[in-house]
Amino acid sequence: MKRLSKGIFLFFLIIWTAFQICGCAPREEKKDTRESSASEAGTEVVPEETGPKIGVSIYRYDDTYMKLYRLELKQYLEETYHAEVIMRNAGGDQKEQDRQVNQFISDGCDGIIINPVEMTAAGALADACSKAGIPLVFINREPKEEEQKRWEEKHMAVSCIGTDSRQAGTYQGEIILETPDQGDLNSDGVVSYVMLMGEEGNEDSLYRTEYSIKALEEGGIKTEKLFSGNGNWNKDEGKKLAQEALASFGSRIEVIFCNNDSMVNGALEAVEEAGRVPGKDIYLVGVDALQDTVKYIKEGKITGTVLNDHEGQSQTAADTLVKMIDGEEVDTRYQVDYIKITAISTFHTVKGED
Ligand code: BGC
Repeated sequence: MKRLSKGIFLFFLIIWTAFQICGCAPREEKKDTRESSASEAGTEVVPEETGPKIGVSIYRYDDTYMKLYRLELKQYLEETYHAEVIMRNAGGDQKEQDRQVNQFISDGCDGIIINPVEMTAAGALADACSKAGIPLVFINREPKEEEQKRWEEKHMAVSCIGTDSRQAGTYQGEIILETPDQGDLNSDGVVSYVMLMGEEGNEDSLYRTEYSIKALEEGGIKTEKLFSGNGNWNKDEGKKLAQEALASFGSRIEVIFCNNDSMVNGALEAVEEAGRVPGKDIYLVGVDALQDTVKYIKEGKITGTVLNDHEGQSQTAADTLVKMIDGEEVDTRYQVDYIKITAISTFHTVKGED
């Protein structure tokens, strides 16, 4: 009997030692080490909870929409998970982003979030994090389906938070279809439009462009493209392109579709400076639901936008990453829906100015 209880004691001692060596204690038990020294000195200190250390690399800080996204992500990680967030600006340079991710790995981050500069880098970044045993979540720009399948097949702790940009494009087309003249302001039976696109080759740009027009045509409307160009998600570039289009095609333009709101805000300035009456003799539509754009919608100057839910996306990214850090299985992809915003539905606005 005595031998038996000694055996049980030894068994628990071995298990306990193994846990100490592997550092396998659950994340919540990682407490501030000041606790023990303070109580040794006889002072009672309420232990501060320390959460995971998270590295975040954003493709560029001067993107208005990504500014909203990263601020929400940081705040949510800190408030919900007591995380230590190291946020870095890749400045539109993939090599810089690679360096930042390697630094996160050598700094011992518990998890990494990447808003990739170039989609072609996703595979190598996923491999680097996976090799180091650090969970990774891609945000805003979604790696290709084959790449996502690879994570699943190889049981890599990698996931991504995406949207369906076909949905955003379709909503843009529907917004124009819902106008009294279905976008055909001059009643010639054709909607003549300008398309201001985001970055070249970017999936959001491609799908929003394609599906906005598809929705119009599926609604029985004939369309004619007068002008298109890549404004790289940027207000000034969007304004410049709109000025060019207005100089070349003037009153023939009935609708200006913009792949995002920064560009639609720029296009609006160009339209007003050209003496057109936005909302009356020309329609404009964007994506994101930036605060300024929503204000212009309320004023009747911009016809509509599509809410690109940065809160939902950043919170899903944080929750997914922390689940993986805690050893839970997650899906390789989560989708957050877009919401159509017009004058009737301007109940939901987001903060952010250009
Ligand atoms: C947003 C754009 C943003 C881009 C950055 C898109 O989803 O609509 O405003 O510039 O993401 O990748």
